Amino acid sequence: MQKVTINTLLAMKRAGEKFVSLTAYDASFARLLDEAGVDVILVGDSLGMVIQGHQTTVPVTMDDMVYHAACVATNTRRALLMVDMPFMSYATVDQALDNAARLMREGGAQMVKLEGGSVQLPVVQALTEHGIPVCAHLGLQPQSVHKLGGYRVQGRDKTSADTMLLDAEKLQQAGADILLLECVPAVLANEITSNVEIPVIGIGAGPDTDAQVLVLQDILGITPGKPPGFSKNFMHGAHSVSEAVEHYVNAVRQGQFPAPEHTFN
Ligand code: KIV
Repeated sequence: MQKVTINTLLAMKRAGEKFVSLTAYDASFARLLDEAGVDVILVGDSLGMVIQGHQTTVPVTMDDMVYHAACVATNTRRALLMVDMPFMSYATVDQALDNAARLMREGGAQMVKLEGGSVQLPVVQALTEHGIPVCAHLGLQPQSVHKLGGYRVQGRDKTSADTMLLDAEKLQQAGADILLLECVPAVLANEITSNVEIPVIGIGAGPDTDAQVLVLQDILGITPGKPPGFSKNFMHGAHSVSEAVEHYVNAVRQGQFPAPEHTFN
């Protein structure tokens, strides 16, 4: 078993090989995902919705993230462990450094993820200078849902698309190790992915990003209400949860997921 590191992911991008990410929030699922070949396990602040039952990710605290990250870290052997910095935990550089250190020290994170474009450059640079790997989350930023007025596809008009392209380059220059694009038109995601050297993970960003991520509960078909249009229930045709996760892993690696019906134009 070869441990996945940022170098593994960079080499996969360069070789044109897709890698796979999926969320987990506890030790049992962490083991299952790790054994199914998921390359990056994300302890997402989506736990606020799928574990805690809130309507948004805004109520999630640092203590919540540390607790769930530590549970997942216990059973993660091969995958790289990425953990979300929750709402307002990186509002200043000092806060970001303290909180990222907690996620790594107490939660076992091997990379932290934060939402935001050029406004986050000083934070990304400071984390990088202190040896903390960073994934920068662009496009739909769920922590800003109340400012955005809802969950919508981002980057559809030329001005916002140009800003996202530029932000992606600046974040790379500031030291970001990975970009994550959420709910972005496929053409824009493709352009960003080919413009930057660092790996790009997509969710609702079409088939051309270097990797895909989904929320575990969505692929298991247990999300209450209407599932997001960019997701897919991999329990259909599977005999077990492990098999569903394996089907997701294989579909991403082989470029079969996302299909056009999971993609925004
Ligand atoms: O919190 C989360 O699970 C995420 C994914 C939706 C990418 O950020």
